[in-house]
Amino acid sequence: MNSLFSKFEGVFDPSSREVELLSRIDPTKLPRHIAVIMDGNGRWAKQRNLPRVAGHRAGISSVRTIVETAARLSIPVLTLYAFSAENWKRPRDEVNTLMALLKEYLRKELSTIHQNDIRFKAIGRIDELPSSVQKELKFAEEETRNNRGTRMVVALNYSGRLELVDAVNHLLKNRTRYPISEEDIENSLYTGGLPEPDLLIRTSGEMRVSNFLLWQIAYAEIYVTEVLWPDFRGIHLLEAVLEFQRRERRYGGIRSPSFQSTR
Ligand code: FPP
Repeated sequence: MNSLFSKFEGVFDPSSREVELLSRIDPTKLPRHIAVIMDGNGRWAKQRNLPRVAGHRAGISSVRTIVETAARLSIPVLTLYAFSAENWKRPRDEVNTLMALLKEYLRKELSTIHQNDIRFKAIGRIDELPSSVQKELKFAEEETRNNRGTRMVVALNYSGRLELVDAVNHLLKNRTRYPISEEDIENSLYTGGLPEPDLLIRTSGEMRVSNFLLWQIAYAEIYVTEVLWPDFRGIHLLEAVLEFQRRERRYGGIRSPSFQSTR
């Protein structure tokens, strides 16, 4: 039995695959930051002859479950890619529905987020979002600012390249020393002060990073699953974490000699 079981008491059936997966997860080697590209909502809806927005609505249940599972696992940071700076190109109705769903999610879930000691943060060019969305985001950040559990980060109107542009402009405007260092850039990113992602999950099988956290994922382990986002549940997150723990991370170095084959 590992210490994770107590956090999931009553959540999973004792004979379930989730509990079996939990028993294999090493609680001392959990990722400090999991970033997720939530993809496949449109395809999920298409498979059911539903409008695309039905896929986004269904995707909210996955958000709820994954936030809860990450919090139970005590993952320090969970970042969800909810709306890219390129997503404005989608039909107006779809964009409006996504904004409405985000507000609805925050209104309905904020008390649960708060009760679970989760601290909320929005990243991206937030000042370009509709003012009603900005208001909800600010409120959620304020309400949860003293929480010490999982940091839930939602990327909105986000672009990895624009984040770097914003960081460089910030440095040019406030710079006190030359030359700038990696640390200066890191601290000027929207994610300044947060650990970089150890694990990047992408749903729906696409092998792309789609302009997400370009600087921060330099050493992240990438996990792509065929599961469409609205079908993604706790079991899938546990599978991703287990796969992460199976990988050998070398950061450009070599394997430790004690593990090298003697053949
Ligand atoms: C990608 O699927 C998904 C999105 C662009 C939006 C994700 C947003 C949510 C799940 C809801 C709001 C989020 C929060 C955090 C409350 P797609 O439409 O590109 O799917 P497709 O590739 O199958 O067309």
